[in-house]
Amino acid sequence: MTDKVIVLTGASRGLGAALAEALLAADTLLVTVSRKPNESLQKLARERGAQLLQIAADLSDPLKAVVGAEKVAAALPESASSYALINNAGMVQPLALAPQLTDGPAIASAFNLNVTAVILLTARFLATTEGRARNRRILNISSGAGRNPQPSWGVYCATKAALDMYTRVLNAEQRANGVRAVSLAPGVVDTDMQASIRNSDPARVPVQPRFAELHARGQLSAPAQVAARIAAYLRRDDFGQAEIDDIRNYD
Ligand SMILES: NC(=O)c1ccc[n+]([C@@H]2O[C@H](COP(=O)([O-])OP(=O)(O)OC[C@H]3O[C@@H](n4cnc5c(N)ncnc54)[C@H](OP(=O)(O)O)[C@@H]3O)[C@@H](O)[C@H]2O)c1
Repeated sequence: MTDKVIVLTGASRGLGAALAEALLAADTLLVTVSRKPNESLQKLARERGAQLLQIAADLSDPLKAVVGAEKVAAALPESASSYALINNAGMVQPLALAPQLTDGPAIASAFNLNVTAVILLTARFLATTEGRARNRRILNISSGAGRNPQPSWGVYCATKAALDMYTRVLNAEQRANGVRAVSLAPGVVDTDMQASIRNSDPARVPVQPRFAELHARGQLSAPAQVAARIAAYLRRDDFGQAEIDDIRNYD
């Protein structure tokens, strides 16, 4: 029987792939959403006797995100003891100083993925799980960038600040329905996203040398370590008490 149901976006690589590995367990149904499947996850699910459903959707396209959210909703079983939605998929691009932020479609894609898709997935998740369990949790993977301005990160900082505020609205509105939401910054994690920051042009991205140096000094966190801590965080009894949080507060 499925006891726990967890929906996780962006499980194909990076932090999300590590989180999926940390969350796969015999009593769990894990439903993932990303553009590409994660082949190694399927094998791991078989080994652990976990249920895994991987849904393909481009969440940067709101119409495709709606279809993806419908597929997720259809996969959620009627009776589980808990339901969790982890909105982890995200993009840091476009990175550029304010006068160079001129690529409308690229800016819209970032807002669509980092904010709009979260709102759409959350809507279907809430509507579908309403009345099914008292324990409903939403974990939005945010960033310190949503709380502290970074030159050339105007788009990314704005999307993560929006995510933080949306999380607060969720709690203000849905807590009475047993929903608890947290917007959690994961720290600086060694993923493709960090590589994309490191590989950017310092003339356009003035913070590039700082991130290149963090990498050179081996100061990026390993995805598996961060994922293990986030998986434990998701299980905490006091989950939702700090609605805007940072996993580094629990070092
Ligand atoms: N890495 C860091 O240092 C860091 C720091 C602070 C916050 N974060 C946040 O942590 C989260 C995970 O970041 P990461 O570093 O693991 O990023 P990543 O390595 O770039 O991985 C991004 C994940 O999101 C998925 N994704 C990207 N575009 C998508 C789309 N259009 N539709 C559906 N899925 C899409 C990717 O899957 P597909 O390509 O298969 O679609 C992938 O699984 C993000 O929300 C990020 O903002 C990361």
